[in-house]
Amino acid sequence: MRSSEKDDQDFPSKLTVYVVICWILAAFGGFMFGYDIGISGGVTAMDDFLIKFFPTVHERKLHATENNYCKYDNQYLQLFTSSLYLAALVSSFGASKACTKYGRKPTILVASVFFLFGAAVSSSAQNIWMLIIGRILLGFGVGFGNEAVPLFLSEIAPMERRGAVNILFQFFVTVGIFFANLVNYGTSKMHPYGWRVSLGLAGVPALFLFIGSIVITETPASLIERGNETAGKSTLTKIRGVDNVNAEFEQIKAASEIARQVKHPFKELMKRSSMPPLIIGILLQVFQQLTGINAIMFYAPVLFQTVGFKNDASLLSAVITGIVNVLSTLVSIFYVDKVGRRILLLQACVQMLISQTAIGAILLAFLTTTGSLTKLQAAFVVVLVCLFVMSFAWSWGPLGWLIPSETFPQETRTAGFAFAVSSNMLFTFLIAQAFLSMLCNMRAFIFFFFAVWILKMGLFVYFLLPETKNVPIDLMVERVWKQHPVWKKFMD
Ligand code: BGC
Repeated sequence: MRSSEKDDQDFPSKLTVYVVICWILAAFGGFMFGYDIGISGGVTAMDDFLIKFFPTVHERKLHATENNYCKYDNQYLQLFTSSLYLAALVSSFGASKACTKYGRKPTILVASVFFLFGAAVSSSAQNIWMLIIGRILLGFGVGFGNEAVPLFLSEIAPMERRGAVNILFQFFVTVGIFFANLVNYGTSKMHPYGWRVSLGLAGVPALFLFIGSIVITETPASLIERGNETAGKSTLTKIRGVDNVNAEFEQIKAASEIARQVKHPFKELMKRSSMPPLIIGILLQVFQQLTGINAIMFYAPVLFQTVGFKNDASLLSAVITGIVNVLSTLVSIFYVDKVGRRILLLQACVQMLISQTAIGAILLAFLTTTGSLTKLQAAFVVVLVCLFVMSFAWSWGPLGWLIPSETFPQETRTAGFAFAVSSNMLFTFLIAQAFLSMLCNMRAFIFFFFAVWILKMGLFVYFLLPETKNVPIDLMVERVWKQHPVWKKFMD
């Protein structure tokens, strides 16, 4: 295959079929995450599901004079959606330890096993607790998968393609969400057990991930750090597709030696010099959630019903936003290593700010508590939602995962990334848990709430986020943190 055009003189590489297979198989971890995100919104809009597990919510839904913004507000219903994220939050720290001690590959294997059990238990649930236990198992899968997969992709990618390769994770997240929306669209017509099919189908990608975790290689960095230099070097030769990998090998070896001396990565992470990537990693993930993306991803069908679509039309609108999400992520794959991370994030802030504000304004002006929007107004809301999702998909979506996975030095990489993952999960949980109540209480103002956060995160990127495109992963400290006007004050 063709050698990459922008080969760093020191780190030559060629694309090989095997490495591409490894990227794709690992990225199935993203598919699982996406499927879990996408499936709950549609399932919680299905009458059969509500009658079985949440009869009071179903009752409320039937009585048509109820308040538009409040018909789905129910803590148990939200617990169904959000329990997964709490489990993922807790397990990401265990996953970090597993990643360091046993490697990225076995951690991905464990994730796939959790996913398989989670799909089995939730789809066969007889009562609400089984349902929640199923979600918790899936959450453990997400914790392990989201910790190991982005790290795996960033470590295995050649430097000049690192952004694009890592974004395969997010690309698969969006495909998983879209696939889940399609499944829900079909199963909503299968009475009375369509919801079981929706939840059970998660087993299919889980199986792919399971097989993938056996086929993929371990990353050279993990092998070398765990003392397996020979295997590390031969893996590096295999994945780079060239014989001369000495320079890169030496660099990984040096980074691994430092990493090996650090016995307590979490303690190391609390040092002043670890703060820059830690603060950036946590904030990027928190901000990613405060864009309001998951208010749309989880509750798209519910949201579209709120603005006046019928059940079927609202699922269809969710499918449309799903397509926009997938296609726009491709933009990021193509541009992230060319224009860099900052430009994508800043451009998106402007587009997201405008769309969230406009959605809020339309709902405020035209949606009364019991009426509904006209067809034209509702269509306009769908267009604005698409514009919002589009910009998120080429920026905060993928880069929320990419940047924290590439900015920590090796000795704190798995621990630091666990903080990024768990911050994502905490805020995903908070939004999943709170959104329907917030919608009920704040009404259209909830969209202004997100808009204000988008403004803040734009300023954060402008002043505090360094560019990391085309910097070797093990040279971030020298080339990025020690050069930045603010962050260099933290470095020794
Ligand atoms: C986020 C998810 C979100 C998804 C949307 C991911 O990067 O972490 O919370 O639902 O993107 O595509």
